[in-house]
Amino acid sequence: MTLWSGRIGGQMASDMEAFTVSLGYDQRLYPDDLKGSRAHVRGLGRGGLLDAEEVAVLLDALDAVEAELDAGTFAFGPGDEDIHTAIERRVTELAGPTGAKLHTGRSRNDQVATDLRLWTKRSLATIIEDLSDLAQVLLARARDAGGAYLPGYTHVQRAQPVLLAHHLLAHGWAVLRDVERLQQCISRLDVSPLGAGALAGSSLNLDPAATAADLGFAAVFENSLDAVGDRDFVAEALFDLAMVGVHLSKMGEELVLWSAEEFGFAVFDDAYSTGSSMLPQKKNADAAELARGKAGRLIGNLTGLLVTLKGLPLAYNRDLQEDKEPLFDSVDQVHLALRAIAGSYATITWRREVMAAAADAPSSAAIDLAEYLVEAGVPFREAHGIVGGLVARSIAGEAGLVDLVSAHPQLGPTAAGLLAPGVPVTRRTTAGGAGPEPVEVQLGRFEARLAALGIT
Ligand code: ARG
Repeated sequence: MTLWSGRIGGQMASDMEAFTVSLGYDQRLYPDDLKGSRAHVRGLGRGGLLDAEEVAVLLDALDAVEAELDAGTFAFGPGDEDIHTAIERRVTELAGPTGAKLHTGRSRNDQVATDLRLWTKRSLATIIEDLSDLAQVLLARARDAGGAYLPGYTHVQRAQPVLLAHHLLAHGWAVLRDVERLQQCISRLDVSPLGAGALAGSSLNLDPAATAADLGFAAVFENSLDAVGDRDFVAEALFDLAMVGVHLSKMGEELVLWSAEEFGFAVFDDAYSTGSSMLPQKKNADAAELARGKAGRLIGNLTGLLVTLKGLPLAYNRDLQEDKEPLFDSVDQVHLALRAIAGSYATITWRREVMAAAADAPSSAAIDLAEYLVEAGVPFREAHGIVGGLVARSIAGEAGLVDLVSAHPQLGPTAAGLLAPGVPVTRRTTAGGAGPEPVEVQLGRFEARLAALGIT
């Protein structure tokens, strides 16, 4: 029997049932649905719509349902279209006639919006924990990187040496922005829709603000039509999760490159590596590749939902049932990817000597030569031309850059000393720069930012 058998008689076509059922995936909303129902029952009690005994009977039935769902003994019935229907059906079986009062003044429209906000609040909080763990790992690896340095790249061409710590923290700051975005998303979605009813509120003595407070929401809806139809928070969460995915894909791509023999900067721990089914020598960076690959579906989940929402009339439309699968999927995938990438970073071995050798090509210090000339009063564009000319001559095979610099009247042996291995990175002294002095400051600022975001 359906919830609407008074109006619509007969059996629902099985193809219709198969098409509309959402129980398979919305079951995971059950803790939130029970929480919402308990608050609703207490509200009905405060409003005089249930007496104290009825409140107790319904709360007991909800507890019994919870125990069954927790234990996996809850028997779903053929007519259980979604988790809300299933729970109400079971409460009615357990509570007898009082069960029929559970849905007083409520619609599945405000119920499902409430459940999903509660679910999103607690799920994004776990993603924030995962992000915090990754940020902590990056900070720890940055600290233990000490003076290790490698080429910094633009256009994947060696540009200037940077400290490994600086490079790792560059990813770390992106992770902290992700944390902040998710925290802000949670605070915006922290609004209770319960009491909006189907779309217009109710004639009954209900107090949505009191129910909102009971549920721990920071605020209550201002407009019932908006309350039941608003899925901005799902779109926003999906964007934030897609952004995390994009960051992870960048880290993944880099770790794939760094662990390739051609770079040789990093060696994955066996615990985060895979082999080949055919080639005995292979060690693959599948965690990094999957982190790169998952971004596609995370972006797809966001795009799909935005297209679903576009052009929808106000209030609830069944299209909105399509909000859950992308949200659940993005949360699950980002959680798994964050764990795997944090574990990879925590256990990876850096090959500092290979990094240093790649960064020590004398031409990596070309900007230091130009800046040496600037300090001697040469206009920068002219200095750029002088040094560029020397680099071109060394590439043409005339002599090594160090010799050309030593012999140059405006440069000479002191300037040539700037090309010595390990020297250029020490000269990046400006705030936020890649050298040891600003990086030391940055490590402290990063730690302070962790604390400001409440990450411990
Ligand atoms: N399973 C539905 C959903 O997730 C619940 C709301 C159904 N409301 C309705 N009027 N059919 O959106």
